[in-house]
Amino acid sequence: MMANEATSRRGMLRMMATAAAAAALPYRRAGAQEPMVLTRRIPASGEAMPAVGLGTWITFNVGNDPRARDACAEVMGAFFASGGRLIDSSPMYGSSQAVVGHGLRRLAEPAALFSADKVWISSGTRAPAQIETSRRAWGVPRFDLLQVHNLLSWEEHLKTLLAMKAEGRLRYVGITTSEGRRHGEFERIMGKEPLDFVQFTYNVLDREAEQRLLPLARERGMAVIVNRPFRQGELTERLARHPLPGWAKEIGCTSWAQALIKFILAHPDVTCVIPATTRVDHVRENLAAARAPLPDAALRARISADVARL
Ligand SMILES: NC(=O)c1ccc[n+]([C@@H]2O[C@H](COP(=O)([O-])OP(=O)(O)OC[C@H]3O[C@@H](n4cnc5c(N)ncnc54)[C@H](OP(=O)(O)O)[C@@H]3O)[C@@H](O)[C@H]2O)c1
Repeated sequence: MMANEATSRRGMLRMMATAAAAAALPYRRAGAQEPMVLTRRIPASGEAMPAVGLGTWITFNVGNDPRARDACAEVMGAFFASGGRLIDSSPMYGSSQAVVGHGLRRLAEPAALFSADKVWISSGTRAPAQIETSRRAWGVPRFDLLQVHNLLSWEEHLKTLLAMKAEGRLRYVGITTSEGRRHGEFERIMGKEPLDFVQFTYNVLDREAEQRLLPLARERGMAVIVNRPFRQGELTERLARHPLPGWAKEIGCTSWAQALIKFILAHPDVTCVIPATTRVDHVRENLAAARAPLPDAALRARISADVARL
């Protein structure tokens, strides 16, 4: 088993009891005890980050339907109750930002929230207005993290974001890509810009980031957010047709989704993985993947071989 920030056995049992109690709450209230989840440090600050976050692309783009919005709020409630913090969205994701804002209001603005949004507009001069519209949609006083989405107009946007950070209007700055796009350029930007976070795709089948991006993030002291852990559900759907192999028990997995998450979290340079879901049971399951042991190198190789074969 890989080392993590877990504690002594007695401390672990105490925290498990706390987590069980917290799971019964609609969400984690300010001042509530921390449920036990694996955390990783944000290198720029040392702040602890629960290693499983929540994506919102497609799953939270539900428009104005009140029932669909409330269903997303329930997913968010279960997310916070299970010890989650980081929610990732973007102006590219249709109504998702407003739906996150609806959920935050329903949950009385959970203190644990780490708000991660993006700037996605070709014009540099129009970025501040887009950021302000996003902030209002979320209903937060300021974002914790803003990322340049898919490197669009990144030179101009980074200047804006770094200035906002210097003025105390933003805590962290980052960039994103996905599905292996523009990794060469991404790497060059990582090499020269003072980024706090980088976000890219990494999962059991898409492992190019192991070669250069993950080691560089460590070297440059950048936190790593991992998107598309399930290839947008393609992996979980495909694997659901197959029984869970015997090794799953060794690492406390009750589902393929948890095995896929644990595979990612076993990489020491990953800070937070952000699966998206429409389901309360799935969000609980995903957070629970950050609560039990992680696979060692040999088991990771078996998981990878099994997924590739199935
Ligand atoms: N360039 C970028 O910045 C960029 C690009 C891509 C993605 N992202 C971010 O990364 C997030 C995650 O990526 P993604 O949305 O592409 O897909 P993903 O997280 O890889 O997969 C989402 C799908 O997995 C299913 N799922 C979630 N938990 C499950 C579980 N426990 N068991 C079975 N199925 C489960 C969901 O279905 P159910 O609803 O049925 O659970 C959903 O359809 C995005 O939402 C977005 O925030 C960023």
